[in-house]
Amino acid sequence: MTAPNPRILPYGEAAIAEGAAIIAAGGCVATPTETVYGLAADATNAEAVAGIYAAKGRPSFNPLIVHVADRRAAEAIAMFDRDARALADAFWPGPLTMVLPLRPDAPIAGLVTAGLSTVAIRVPQHRAMQALLAATGKPLAAPSANASGTLSPTRAAHVAASLAGRIPLIIDDGATNGGIESTIVALGGEPRLLRPGPVAAADIEREIGRWLGGAGEAIEAPGQLASHYAPRKPLRLNATAAQDGEWLIGFGAVAGDDSLSNTGDVTQAAARLFDALHRADAGDRAAIAVAPVPEEGVGIAINDRLRRAATR
Ligand code: TXA
Ligand code: MG
Repeated sequence: MTAPNPRILPYGEAAIAEGAAIIAAGGCVATPTETVYGLAADATNAEAVAGIYAAKGRPSFNPLIVHVADRRAAEAIAMFDRDARALADAFWPGPLTMVLPLRPDAPIAGLVTAGLSTVAIRVPQHRAMQALLAATGKPLAAPSANASGTLSPTRAAHVAASLAGRIPLIIDDGATNGGIESTIVALGGEPRLLRPGPVAAADIEREIGRWLGGAGEAIEAPGQLASHYAPRKPLRLNATAAQDGEWLIGFGAVAGDDSLSNTGDVTQAAARLFDALHRADAGDRAAIAVAPVPEEGVGIAINDRLRRAATR
């Protein structure tokens, strides 16, 4: 039997009620967050979590982020030190994920953390994810709602194209406004930045009064494997003009066929990045080129994703 294509329901009471019912029954549902669309399931239910891995075709060693409604719910799952409290106060709800020691009594399926003694956790800000958390009353495990290794989704249509026939429901609340996956910081020892994102490393350092180390050991955040977020077509970086057969994604003074931001605004560029890559990948040119983006603010996270997208 083939699974139905996902239903796409606009955000609202009906969509949240249906989403919550699917999650209560052990299924998974795609929902927007302020960063990218996520594929959410009950983090306390191992079979439900297995369903996420199956739908994404994700290697089972790659652990998932747990989303909770508030800091209190997070403290029931992870152990907070002083740094973690400071960062929760400063940046939650919002696009910051903290990797913290898992409480031994945490009601989280082992598959969520892929057996690690740490857990990645965040309090999202988006109304749809918050409504789903309230309606289910469960912590929700949610990776980005795309097939493993492909571009992250910032629109319901991206999810539908990537996971057609694999999930029952997408809650559609338009394009996400952040556009880039959350910043991931590991605490509970020397603080380290595992993934750059919308919350700048410098702002985290200011809050905790210490410098952040980089991601050190192999596959500490397995999603940081070199080739990730990849389009199907070859991607050339730092392009100032299109070569034969290329679709040029511009930025600032480099106009291109499309632009991340005509005015050279990195925040706008972050919000448009994956949408622009999806469009370029679906278009009729054989290759993609992207103009240089300054290595400042969220531009650091944009360049991180672009380097990975260009690696194959
Ligand atoms: O913005 C986001 O973070 C989105 C939305 C849906 O919340 N989610 C997201 O999830 O990007 P995902 O699964 O695509 O990326 C999660 C990253 C992976 O790189 C994974 O390896 C890392 O978090 N991770 C999860 N648990 C970890 C842990 N215990 N230790 C280290 N890294 C961990
Ligand atoms: Mg992902």
